[in-house]
Amino acid sequence: MAANLQHQTVLVTGASSGIGQAIAIAMGKAGANVIINYHEDDKAADDTLRQIEALGGTGLVVKADVSKEVEVIEMFNSAIKKFGTVDILVNNAGIQKDSKFVDMSLKDWQTVMDTNLTGQFLCAREAAREFCRRGLVGERSVAAGKIIFISSVHNIVPWAGHANYTASKGGETMLMKTMAQELAPQKIRVNSIAPGAIKTDINKKVWSDPQQAAELLRLIPYQRIGEPDDVAKVAAWLASDEADYITGTTIYVDGGMTLYPEFAHGG
Ligand code: BGC
Repeated sequence: MAANLQHQTVLVTGASSGIGQAIAIAMGKAGANVIINYHEDDKAADDTLRQIEALGGTGLVVKADVSKEVEVIEMFNSAIKKFGTVDILVNNAGIQKDSKFVDMSLKDWQTVMDTNLTGQFLCAREAAREFCRRGLVGERSVAAGKIIFISSVHNIVPWAGHANYTASKGGETMLMKTMAQELAPQKIRVNSIAPGAIKTDINKKVWSDPQQAAELLRLIPYQRIGEPDDVAKVAAWLASDEADYITGTTIYVDGGMTLYPEFAHGG
């Protein structure tokens, strides 16, 4: 059954491209009003909105740097002013700044932490505050609110050359679990989706090069690189009441990347 998010409002961070854009569109398709957050590319954010409107949906584009407390608070204020409340948060905005560990600058460590972990904290806190303020509205959903973190297989798979990124994703997992435990009595569900290699700008260098793409496929038992929509469909379902008894968990959408693929022919 297709997910039903009618009369609910979802805020998706980093919704101008890649997985965030696909999630925003999938949520719009499921009937939600969509707040399209972006940081830099206003044209791409407008394009997300146009695609949602073309499907008969509604939305609002809001620029904000998720790592800045004032901007996050203002973003939630604009969302609430426009649609009355926020029912679902998808904490998707994330970046990579890769380097060998011994060469990693404090700036690159901090920049990744600021967006990937502090940004998720700030948005999740504002969403949870709004869910607690509003409480349950039974006609819309059996939960008072839903938060989905977009994590990564690298919340459990170490990745040489990406210490800042893996640390941010590992931290995200404990943030998600602790929030889920703390907020369950208020009927707030908190979960993560951990994508594997999905074709977006973040890893374009790899999948657009035939040799690197072939090497990447050796890490994916299911033998295809993922599409943003593979993640988006799961997000729409996880946000819906169909998934009401799921909280505090991580769903891997990775074609088996976390199955230790090298053990298929060895060990
Ligand atoms: C990273 C991608 C990478 C994928 C699988 C993601 O979290 O952002 O660059 O392709 O994990 O390794």
